[in-house]
Amino acid sequence: MKIPEIKLNDGNKIPQFGLGLWKIKTYEEIKVAFDSAIENGYTLFDSAQIYGNEEFLGRAIKESKIDRSKLFITTKIFISNFGYKKALKSFDESLRNLDTDYLDLILLHFPVTLLRKKTWLALEEIKESGRAKSIGVSNYTIRHLEEMKKYAKIIPAVNQVELHVFLQQPELIKYCLENNIIIEAYSPLAHGKAMNDKTVSEVASKYGKTYTQIMLRFLVEKGLVVIPKSTHPERIKENIEIFDFKLDEEDMKKLSKLDKNLRTCWDPTLVP
Ligand SMILES: NC(=O)c1ccc[n+]([C@@H]2O[C@H](COP(=O)([O-])OP(=O)(O)OC[C@H]3O[C@@H](n4cnc5c(N)ncnc54)[C@H](OP(=O)(O)O)[C@@H]3O)[C@@H](O)[C@H]2O)c1
Repeated sequence: MKIPEIKLNDGNKIPQFGLGLWKIKTYEEIKVAFDSAIENGYTLFDSAQIYGNEEFLGRAIKESKIDRSKLFITTKIFISNFGYKKALKSFDESLRNLDTDYLDLILLHFPVTLLRKKTWLALEEIKESGRAKSIGVSNYTIRHLEEMKKYAKIIPAVNQVELHVFLQQPELIKYCLENNIIIEAYSPLAHGKAMNDKTVSEVASKYGKTYTQIMLRFLVEKGLVVIPKSTHPERIKENIEIFDFKLDEEDMKKLSKLDKNLRTCWDPTLVP
């Protein structure tokens, strides 16, 4: 299945769909997930320093013998590695762990108040050196992004935030669209915590699709990048089979009404 690509503000392209890797802790699990993802057309893999699996992903990539240029690899600088020098050092460690000489996308994991500016300057340096093709942020609210206009030479290409049917963040989507920042929707299945909504089930039966496929397609219709996680081959396959149908306007409206500000991960809205 061919996955659409989205153009970033730096001219690079990002696949609209990928595999999240949070909580996948062993090489064996990563290997199974990676291989079945590749078999089903995934090319984007979302890791992070804190996930502790960069090295396993690097090994799975190497063993697959896939041409590195066919993959889109993301990792994130964790909050304990914030600060200019520490970020640069930890970035080099991530490259070593992943056994690669560049990343497609490197993100600041969270808007750490006193250190986010300095750490962004490190990412700009990494981008300029060519060791990351694109740079971005994660868990940034409109306020954190507006603040960047005062110090950033490079506007983030991506803002990775929690976004799903039950946490729709329409203002943030509008802001990012206007400012040419692509939103990557993390926990697009609400971390598996809201799998029994009646409306989602009804829409799923109408299209002959599954509950999770409706949750994911809803985000694709909004033009977002979507990165569900699973370690089960049959679910990895199911989740990506959403590019052969469209939700009509009426169903998009029905689903839009399900927003209930449900956060399943960290809440950056109160971070000064
Ligand atoms: N930047 C950040 O701060 C941040 C925060 C959170 C997440 N993320 C990224 O976003 C990715 C996705 O988010 P997430 O892992 O929190 O949660 P998610 O993708 O919303 O949901 C994952 C959960 O749903 C289950 N699942 C997956 N496909 C399913 C299916 N077809 N049917 C039924 N259950 C299914 C998974 O179980 P199984 O694995 O057992 O199948 C798992 O329990 C992460 O892995 C990570 O890469 C980033």
